[in-house]
Amino acid sequence: MTVIKSHPLPQHPEGSPFLTQEYEDVMEKLKEKAEGDQPVKWQEQWQWEMSNVHLFLIQMIERAYLYAPYAIETHDLSNFLGYAEISFFQVYSHHSGEEEYIFPTFVKYSKNDIWSRNVSEHHTFDQALDATWLYIRSCQEKLPVADGDSKRVKSPVPPPSSELIKSIDLKSFPNLDFDEPFDVVGFRKHIESFIVPLVEHLGSEIDTLTPELMDGVGPEGDKDVRKWLDSHLKAYDPAWFLCSAFASVPISLCKQMIQLPFLVRRILVPFLLAPKYRGYWLYAPYPENLTFKGTA
Ligand SMILES: [Fe+2]
Repeated sequence: MTVIKSHPLPQHPEGSPFLTQEYEDVMEKLKEKAEGDQPVKWQEQWQWEMSNVHLFLIQMIERAYLYAPYAIETHDLSNFLGYAEISFFQVYSHHSGEEEYIFPTFVKYSKNDIWSRNVSEHHTFDQALDATWLYIRSCQEKLPVADGDSKRVKSPVPPPSSELIKSIDLKSFPNLDFDEPFDVVGFRKHIESFIVPLVEHLGSEIDTLTPELMDGVGPEGDKDVRKWLDSHLKAYDPAWFLCSAFASVPISLCKQMIQLPFLVRRILVPFLLAPKYRGYWLYAPYPENLTFKGTA
């Protein structure tokens, strides 16, 4: 039987922002809050769950940053860009869901304005972050259809809206050249320009989700947001959405965070969904979770 393993993870280059103390401090805090099993009380679930989701998002960006030169050397840019696009889309989708529904609903039910701070923090890096997503898409479009390189696959994530495209001044990001094919140096420099403020925000947002603050939202507000979140996430194609989650976290955590019927987890995921973008998941840390054995 073939063993499914991630591509060997490259080392961080010298001067990588992922090696800084600021980065380490936030990661330590998130890991501490994410530890253990899902809390039983709904008021305690938000901080645990959001810390796990933030670690998942940071990990995806870090891996896109690390693997970029490897993908070029191994002629696997198509799969890499597919993985990288999903990574950046996950962050985009996470923030837009918080801005559009989650935080305004917390404010509405609690009459506490604390969550509006999270939304204003998004604006310190969201243009740079969204520009990265658009850059990856533009590089995907420039890939040859087939020339010995892995074949180009149609992007599985929803396309950016025209308002989003119009709202970003792409010329303000000198490291991203939208007229040229994928450039590792520019891609990495661009990520280096916003990753620390982004990670710091992902750390400080956790302080606004303490059990005490969530208690102010109340069980009705919690139910309202969970219901919205459920329908919002179910609208995504599970071939990329579920698979990126399965391949990114240990299966025991995955089963707690995304509770699926047995047939979906054990049959649909490994046999129908995982094969669709199989090459993408070798950039994730747990591609073996996408096998029949791995979903147990
Ligand atoms: Fe968040």
